[in-house]
Amino acid sequence: MEIRIFDTKEEIARKCADLFEEVIRDKPNAVLGLATGASPVQTYKELIRRVKEGKISFRDIQSFNLDEYCDLPQNDKNSYYSFMRENLFQHVDIAPENTHIPDGNAKDINAECRNYDEKIKRAGGIDVQLLGIGTNGHIGFNEPDALFSEGTHRIKLSQSTVLSNSVYFTESPMPAYALTMGIRSIMEAKKIVLIAAGESKAEAIYRTVKGEVTPACPASILQTHPNVVLLLDRAAASKL
Ligand code: PGA
Repeated sequence: MEIRIFDTKEEIARKCADLFEEVIRDKPNAVLGLATGASPVQTYKELIRRVKEGKISFRDIQSFNLDEYCDLPQNDKNSYYSFMRENLFQHVDIAPENTHIPDGNAKDINAECRNYDEKIKRAGGIDVQLLGIGTNGHIGFNEPDALFSEGTHRIKLSQSTVLSNSVYFTESPMPAYALTMGIRSIMEAKKIVLIAAGESKAEAIYRTVKGEVTPACPASILQTHPNVVLLLDRAAASKL
């Protein structure tokens, strides 16, 4: 694991955008694994700026998001569909049909999960996967569990995730379930970039980097991936 520590969230975002820019320059039709939440917002702003300046283009890019809530209308302000549209997709030249987010409202959830994995495979796999991390060590919505998950699947959100994310649900109740790419899908990405800022992430980062590899801290599996970069601020890195 390569660990880089920065003073500000803006520096993390610039470095993260640099890594994505490198992949896109190298392979203009790259397959990007994208994340939601507070962590990637600044990185998306950087990428938008670079697209507007003509440095990079998303014209031939395909994207796959990590996760989506179940039983939340697609256009709800808290859906990850809305998040991605507002924070990235509507500001860059990506073709809507090239953006993929699991459908948490699918009638046949098992078929949706299988199709999602199949689409990733058909696209040639993920070239670079962006990750945040939960205070409980989750990546995507892979919550601490007895086993590492495999492909895309439906999960019950943990108490810790409900606590962290319920602040956004001021007008409607937070969903209890979500679809998430599995650990195997994440680990199949050729490169992984994880960003974390703030003291609330310090324990999870410590367990990710120095703890045993265990599904009790899903991000710890990243120790076994050959191409992982952690971009941290000093607070998130404070227990290393
Ligand atoms: P955050 O969430 O970026 O909003 O802190 C990260 C996560 O829960 O994976």
